Amino acid sequence: MKQIEEKEYYEEIKDWDFSKFEIESEVLTDWDLYEILNGVATKKSRILDLGTGGGEKVLEYYPDCEEILGTDLSEGMIETANRNLKESGRSNITFRLMDNLNMDVPDDYFDIVVARHTPTDPKQIIKCLKKGGYLLIRGVDKDDCWSLKMAFGRGLAYDDSKPISIIDYENVLNAGFKDVELVPIHEREYFKNEYLFKAFLRKVPIIDDFSCDNKDYYSKDLDEETLNHYISENTYNGKIRLLRRYYGITARKD
Ligand SMILES: C[S@@+](CC[C@H](N)C(=O)[O-])C[C@H]1O[C@@H](n2cnc3c(N)ncnc32)[C@H](O)[C@@H]1O
Repeated sequence: MKQIEEKEYYEEIKDWDFSKFEIESEVLTDWDLYEILNGVATKKSRILDLGTGGGEKVLEYYPDCEEILGTDLSEGMIETANRNLKESGRSNITFRLMDNLNMDVPDDYFDIVVARHTPTDPKQIIKCLKKGGYLLIRGVDKDDCWSLKMAFGRGLAYDDSKPISIIDYENVLNAGFKDVELVPIHEREYFKNEYLFKAFLRKVPIIDDFSCDNKDYYSKDLDEETLNHYISENTYNGKIRLLRRYYGITARKD
């Protein structure tokens, strides 16, 4: 996945509200990023949220503490985050531009670094954490929506030889983190109707990643016959099911 295309994609969806798809989630795994974050944070914590997007998650789920910095590669996302911040009335939170792969934050400064669904470089992250600080990652794995990817014969990480979770896990270990734990997260998502399901798939990089030739993310060319077959095989009580596979990583700087 090329970084420039990923950036373009996020610039385009900067104001996109995913609640439009009215997805119902059934969580099968007991691993909740925000529960863990709120469990380890204190009033004195300094938290860095990498690839923060429009800041929605920070503003809704992150604790009140000394400092929260949310960063993102996309100017559009940071504008949205700053708008959301103003409306939220929350304090001690700043949003600014930064590339996760070229971080410019002080060394030994943060108590917690969070990266949800965004690329990371654990070697850079460990430098900016204080001794005893935590790294919390949540990502989308290779086997996410696997039967759908199989039906299309393509999709995000479809041809990767190693699952993304293992690559991340190894990178975290190789960076020198301790108490590193990788947990597979299983969820079922349900869509109320075909229209919402198809609109969702045309919007997100599941079947086509950011490097697809078609830059019009609203009208991805998804073969209708394949899609309709998947829908007929995966409809339960009138709702279309998608099996999601995420992963969580927790680690500590010794
Ligand atoms: C799927 S969104 C996740 C947003 C947020 N973390 C959340 O969980 O709602 C991924 C975000 O990562 C950002 N991103 C992608 N590559 C990045 C990079 N190299 N450096 C910083 N941000 C990046 C995108 O611009 C986008 O806002």
